[in-house]
Amino acid sequence: MTPPMTLSEGGYAVAQLPSDSSAVVDAVMALEETGFEVGEQWSRNSWESEFDDPCEVLGAKDASGALIGVIALRYGGDTVDLDRIVVAPSARRRGVGRSLIMTALVQARLRRVTEMILEVRTDNEPAVTLYRELGFTAVTVRSDYYGPGRDAQVMKADTGARKARTNQA
Ligand SMILES: CC(C)(COP(=O)(O)OP(=O)(O)OC[C@H]1O[C@@H](n2cnc3c(N)ncnc32)[C@H](O)[C@@H]1OP(=O)(O)O)[C@@H](O)C(=O)NCCC(=O)NCCS
Repeated sequence: MTPPMTLSEGGYAVAQLPSDSSAVVDAVMALEETGFEVGEQWSRNSWESEFDDPCEVLGAKDASGALIGVIALRYGGDTVDLDRIVVAPSARRRGVGRSLIMTALVQARLRRVTEMILEVRTDNEPAVTLYRELGFTAVTVRSDYYGPGRDAQVMKADTGARKARTNQA
């Protein structure tokens, strides 16, 4: 279901990552370690579970094949959770994060999943700005979700699947 691997104008391509490759998990862990502060980083075990059904991991690779961004998705009924997204610091502000989420929204729509949901730290301005730009709206705030004084905003976006269903009816 993943769209074919073609390089975007930015010189990277987004595609689903295979679930059976320890080299892929190594590359994801390298992104995790450069992309998040110590204390916010996921363990290898956490990432490994994101590759198993009902989860899916999409990656962005540059022209040399290096992994520069990754998004983890968890499907369940009518919703898909955006569990994690990280872009290499050296590749930021080139539209990689936007492409990863837009590809994930298309994938969800193809699966007839109506809603994408996520949690983000309220003070994570780059991520919150990106999500808003892509149509995510705030649902609620979970106080102290990431520890004392570190609140999470729950956000959701319509994938367009509902409208597609209505048009087909
Ligand atoms: C959030 C993150 C994934 C964005 O990735 P990115 O590839 O740099 O984002 P994009 O280049 O696609 O940005 C798209 C838009 O989002 C917004 N945005 C992205 N980074 C921003 C920043 N630092 N400040 C303000 N707005 C920002 C802008 O509107 C941007 O559009 P523009 O560049 O045309 O102005 C990246 O900063 C990251 O990996 N952060 C660390 C991990 C993290 O916090 N993940 C989210 C929680 S799980």
